[in-house]
Amino acid sequence: MTFGLVLAGLVTASIAQGHHLEYRATPQVYDSCINANDIALTFDDGPYIYLRDISDQFTRAGAKATFFMNGNNWDCIYNPDRISDVKYAFAAGHMIGSHTWSHADLTSLSTPQIQDAMFRMEEAFSRILGIKPAFMRPPFGDYNNNVQSIAAARGQSLALWDWDTGDADGNTTAQSEAVYNDVVNAKVKNALILEHETEETTDSTLVPYAINLFQSKGYNLVTMAQCLGVDPYQAIGVPQQQTPSWTCDGTPDPGAACGGSITCETGTPTFSSTTTVTGPTPTATYIHPTASASKCLTAASNTDGAAVEIEDCISGGSTSQGWTISGSNLKIFGTKCLDVTNGATADGTKLQIWTCASGNTNQMWAFSGSAITWTGHSSCVDLTDGSTANGNLIQIWTCTFGPNQQWTQTIG
Ligand SMILES: *[C@@H]1O[C@H](CO)[C@@H](O)[C@H](O)[C@H]1NC(C)=O
Repeated sequence: MTFGLVLAGLVTASIAQGHHLEYRATPQVYDSCINANDIALTFDDGPYIYLRDISDQFTRAGAKATFFMNGNNWDCIYNPDRISDVKYAFAAGHMIGSHTWSHADLTSLSTPQIQDAMFRMEEAFSRILGIKPAFMRPPFGDYNNNVQSIAAARGQSLALWDWDTGDADGNTTAQSEAVYNDVVNAKVKNALILEHETEETTDSTLVPYAINLFQSKGYNLVTMAQCLGVDPYQAIGVPQQQTPSWTCDGTPDPGAACGGSITCETGTPTFSSTTTVTGPTPTATYIHPTASASKCLTAASNTDGAAVEIEDCISGGSTSQGWTISGSNLKIFGTKCLDVTNGATADGTKLQIWTCASGNTNQMWAFSGSAITWTGHSSCVDLTDGSTANGNLIQIWTCTFGPNQQWTQTIG
């Protein structure tokens, strides 16, 4: 499931700080990091009794972790100890995301049941932390189009992973450590790794091993949002005061869903916002010929058939230069995709943008080193005649992986 989006360096400080996008990015599915040299260690299924200790281990190492939490799984999140631990990890700057209320397999649920599983978790975060999560990790990593569109309507992207330690699937600690060693031996650009907060040996053995290993190899241990260069939350407001209604009684049991005596909650929870609404995840990527960081892959206009050409990068980012990676599509203006004109396979066929259509093979791309390849063909996105002059049109050409086919991405 690795989608190898390779960031060939060049995330300058000014660009990294300038999250001033002019449009709301479509929530999407992330199964790998974007930024080079970042590793995000993610922990599912808590909050449980190891949360505070894992949080402390990362904090002591100057590192950050990510926790995808359930409301009613190994413990009830409204247990006062769990409330206190969740606040503690959040205050330490670790990222908190939703893993849904009861860890039911969302692909087996009806639409109101999926909404309920997401609602109850969002309500707990709104109450305890005063946050609206921007990421939801579907239990078991299982999702379908319905799950994706419900998450999108709630402003959430789906959070998957590209390496699994198997710590909750019966792997011994030695086997899980071998996964970390594999990551290092593969000399990955980045990694998004799955662990579970609920395993004693993950806390006692895997976390110290991973922190030491990855830091000794020079990787940055960051949150999932940081490794993507996006915001972890849709909004940060203020926590609420606890009341007796903060309970897991009368809610779906672990693995179960609403229905019968339990009403399905299909709305959105009350959110107390007195502070900044940071907005959903800015995810635009600027694509430069590797030869010239000041030039950007640009759509000539926002209409179907508009040419794709090279132009000077517009400072602060521009909607005509901000591309979003969504599965194998490279999107722009929210609904348009990088597209091979008429799907012609001849060398020299020019690229255009066209309304995205799922399954349209003219719009499918993969990142391979610094090349952008047309999936299913041996053609690459190519700078015509190697010229970085403004207005030069972009074409496909048989992949040579030469200088005309080398592209560098920076995050807006
Ligand atoms: C378990 O460990 C083995 C050996 O390190 C590894 O190949 C595998 O991916 C791990 N994960 C699972 C889910 O088995």
